[in-house]
Amino acid sequence: MDHLRIEKLNKSFFETLPHRQIAVLVDGNTHRFCYPLLQNFLPKHKIISISSGEEHKNLQTSTQIWQALTDFQFDRKSLLINLGGGVIGDMGGFCAATYKRGIDFIHIPTTLLAQVDASIGGKLAIDFKHLKNHIGVFQNPVNVLIDTDFLKTLPFEELRSGFAEMIKHALIADAAEWENIKKIDIRNADWTQIVSRSIEVKKKVVDQDPHEKGLRKILNFGHTIGHAVESFYLENTDLKRKLRHGEAIAIGMICESQIAKEKGFLSEAELLDIQGFILSLYPRQFIAPSEIEIIVSYTSQDKKNWGKTINGSLLKRIGEANYDIALSEKDMKDSLWHYKSLVD
Ligand code: GLY
Repeated sequence: MDHLRIEKLNKSFFETLPHRQIAVLVDGNTHRFCYPLLQNFLPKHKIISISSGEEHKNLQTSTQIWQALTDFQFDRKSLLINLGGGVIGDMGGFCAATYKRGIDFIHIPTTLLAQVDASIGGKLAIDFKHLKNHIGVFQNPVNVLIDTDFLKTLPFEELRSGFAEMIKHALIADAAEWENIKKIDIRNADWTQIVSRSIEVKKKVVDQDPHEKGLRKILNFGHTIGHAVESFYLENTDLKRKLRHGEAIAIGMICESQIAKEKGFLSEAELLDIQGFILSLYPRQFIAPSEIEIIVSYTSQDKKNWGKTINGSLLKRIGEANYDIALSEKDMKDSLWHYKSLVD
């Protein structure tokens, strides 16, 4: 069996499964919109339904999943199919990888973000208190099944959020794809080819460095500042509208490209190219001067470590990235001021 399959879901694949017991993990959305596309292809199976959203990617929901597998008397030859976005894949995979020391699992990612990023590379985790992906393991699913028909169930904003990771893949490793990416109309895209090319970039990187000892860190481009912006907005819900992951990463990619330009890696023309495209697609986020320092403080996972060096991944040029580059507090603050000057 091929590990990664980009094709329409079909009965013949599921007929070959050797597992004795099968469960499908869904949330309210994927149960309603995605499960009907899968249901008739599956042999006899159970359903485990959990609440949707990052706020449920925790130990309590994991306990619910382990309890269901236990109640179904699943043995070590059973299979969990994770039908959903990043939360379902990360948490379902984590629960499968730890249930009875590990049962097989298959990812069927249904969001663009999960198809091009979360489902590829074997990272499985749950959040712990305020710490994202703090408890987890590396383990690959037996299969990842990518059917871009699921993308038809998604609103534009959700597609645009996932698209940020495709922009990232092109910028860090595929200059030719960057030229294609800029021409894509998200509302009318023919996703199969574009998704395949984006996955190719991620696969090439994770195959060389599955446990993120070095090269895999280039996938964090845009995420040092992007995650800080995301955390800031998550923890200050009273202040702002909710930012989607990709919207935060879009800001992070502009900021980190500006730092790369200041450090003499990227040319002015490349920076203008990157920020011009990103700003044409993503909402412009107002950031107050007083918020800049707070956002930068979020780049340190443990806020008590404020002041220590942060290492990030920066573009060397469009299509190539470096990792383990020291980013000072000033680099990051200046880059947020730069972003602010573009959107004010
Ligand atoms: N999303 C980054 C990685 O999988 O390494």
